[in-house]
Amino acid sequence: MKPEIVFTREEINEMVSDIAAKLTEMYKDSKVPPVFVGVLKGAVPFMMDLIKKCNFPLNIDFIQVTSYSGTASTGVVHLKKDLSESVKDKDVVIIEDIVDTGSTLSYLKQYIQVHHQPKSVKIVCLIDKKPLRKVNLEADVVGATLTQNKFIVGYGFDYNELGRNIDYIFVPTKKQLNEWDKLNKRK
Ligand code: IMP
Ligand code: MG
Repeated sequence: MKPEIVFTREEINEMVSDIAAKLTEMYKDSKVPPVFVGVLKGAVPFMMDLIKKCNFPLNIDFIQVTSYSGTASTGVVHLKKDLSESVKDKDVVIIEDIVDTGSTLSYLKQYIQVHHQPKSVKIVCLIDKKPLRKVNLEADVVGATLTQNKFIVGYGFDYNELGRNIDYIFVPTKKQLNEWDKLNKRK
């Protein structure tokens, strides 16, 4: 069986360009450069492509949380790595790969608001996965919506840390997942 391709490299490229155009409209006249906060590790390929298409001054930083194990979100979010610079009174733009249950982003938004006192917090996510939403959370800018509950890999999305470097987004076959399980057992 072949893996189902959900978004090709070309489709991803178009989605990222659309998001960059929206962000350029939102932040091009900012007096203080906004801080793009990438959520490690899944958002890295998306964020690296996105910032190169954003035509205005900006800063970048990273934050890391954990919540996922295998193909399901645990729903319990822990902070693993905090911001490295102060974002007090600055516009923060959280860059995330996907909103699934919504727990990660709702935790992160609140955490940044409470602990870092930014001027504003907006959420950008490449993919909005609607079916498993548990927390009432809407991203401000979304690349594409998935209406079916598919577990996807590629372009930052991983299965137990594998597959992030693949250049398109797909649903892995059982065979592929078994092969990755074998690789991970060798660690
Ligand atoms: P949430 O807290 O349930 O919204 O989960 C968000 C996190 O789970 C994202 O940051 C992703 O890292 C991960 N995630 C959600 N869906 C998928 C998927 O289909 N493939 C890989 N990772 C996923
Ligand atoms: Mg993530």
